[in-house]
Amino acid sequence: MRTQVAIIGAGPAGLLLGQLLHTYGIDNVILERRSADYVLSRIRAGVLEQGTVSLLEEVGVATRLHREGLVHGGIELAFDGVRHRIDMAGSTGGKVVTVYGQTEVTHDLMDARKAAGRISIYEADNVTPLDFDGERPRVTYVKDGITHEIVCDFIAGCDGSHGICHQSVPEGAIRTYQRGYPFGWLGILSNTPPVSPELIYTKHERGFALCSMRSPTRSRYYLQCTLDDRVDNWSDQQFWDELKRRLDREAADTLVTGPSIEKSIAPLRSFVAEPMRFGRLMLAGDAAHIVPPTGAKGLNLAVSDVRYLSHALREYYADKSSAGLDDYSSRALARVWKAVRFSWWMTSMMHRFPDTDPFTDRVQLAELSYVVGSKAATTSLAENYVGLPF
Ligand code: APR
Ligand code: PHB
Repeated sequence: MRTQVAIIGAGPAGLLLGQLLHTYGIDNVILERRSADYVLSRIRAGVLEQGTVSLLEEVGVATRLHREGLVHGGIELAFDGVRHRIDMAGSTGGKVVTVYGQTEVTHDLMDARKAAGRISIYEADNVTPLDFDGERPRVTYVKDGITHEIVCDFIAGCDGSHGICHQSVPEGAIRTYQRGYPFGWLGILSNTPPVSPELIYTKHERGFALCSMRSPTRSRYYLQCTLDDRVDNWSDQQFWDELKRRLDREAADTLVTGPSIEKSIAPLRSFVAEPMRFGRLMLAGDAAHIVPPTGAKGLNLAVSDVRYLSHALREYYADKSSAGLDDYSSRALARVWKAVRFSWWMTSMMHRFPDTDPFTDRVQLAELSYVVGSKAATTSLAENYVGLPF
């Protein structure tokens, strides 16, 4: 088979890139190692920046998002048992975020891909990017026991943090930066009304807690947990009891509990691979960088990479110019590092670390008090949360 761009990975990055390229008339094939059902069963974050929404609009997949997504102009930060509202819209000239699950975004993109009639190959084994340092890259894969080859102009590595693409780059050509955090998040999804109309980020001496949602009848809650903790250690009742302990009095009293429909633990880490381009292989999304979820930036960063990359490829085919591709890595990374910084900062300010002593605790509280009390600091948080300009 021959195509212009072979996309590895059918997460939000790969699917959105495929849809943008389709809109620009650029042929592409998506290879995904899992089944479509498996991809849709993953529960992930759910806060979309305005720039993310705009790009989904551009490819015509925002109808359900506008119907079902919840527009939020603020978040709440809780510490010392008191909640403080950050007026994001008021601090950023009216910018907002939309609460809409990544699973739903993926679902909408899959539907659009089907309607576009472009090829997606699910359950493709042993996907291997080859010869991307030359003019004629190839990708081989095995489907139903038979080996196939796709010859292409470019390979887009949208295969997430455990993907094959960045592992295929010669060791000396790639530099990685990382930070592990000594805790994870235990998350549950439940068909219960959210405790509050806006997200609540809570710093508590027992650990961080987050109240989020998916709809007016579905909630998503998280608790900071240890790295060796296991889902089996937490009955629903234990989860709700611990959440109530960490929330402010009013939230604890109004929290509606119910059976969980999903429960999982994810460790927190920061990771960046530089550069994001190796000849004719370009990385995008989690394949190139991971952020802890505290700033709600993971999906939005994947989308911003794809925006830069799709424009660069359009320029290559329409204007016969490689300038956009040459700049892709540095442009994407400039925005990535700012989100890495923001996510690290939110994480550091709100969590209890094993070495958090009374001094560190007081400094965290002073920082939170400054953030909610200073117009400059509130604006800084708000403009990062709603998304920095492209
Ligand atoms: N061959 C083919 N597909 C692969 C391979 C491989 N060797 N390795 C991984 N994949 C697929 C995965 O199964 C997954 O469906 O690549 C896809 C990567 O998707 P995501 O992990 O969702 O990554 P991305 O599209 O970059 O989206 C970033 O996902 O993890 C969240 O916080 C993150 O919200 C952000 C978003
Ligand atoms: C979520 O709803 O899953 C969510 C929201 C905000 C975050 C992280 C996760 O910062």
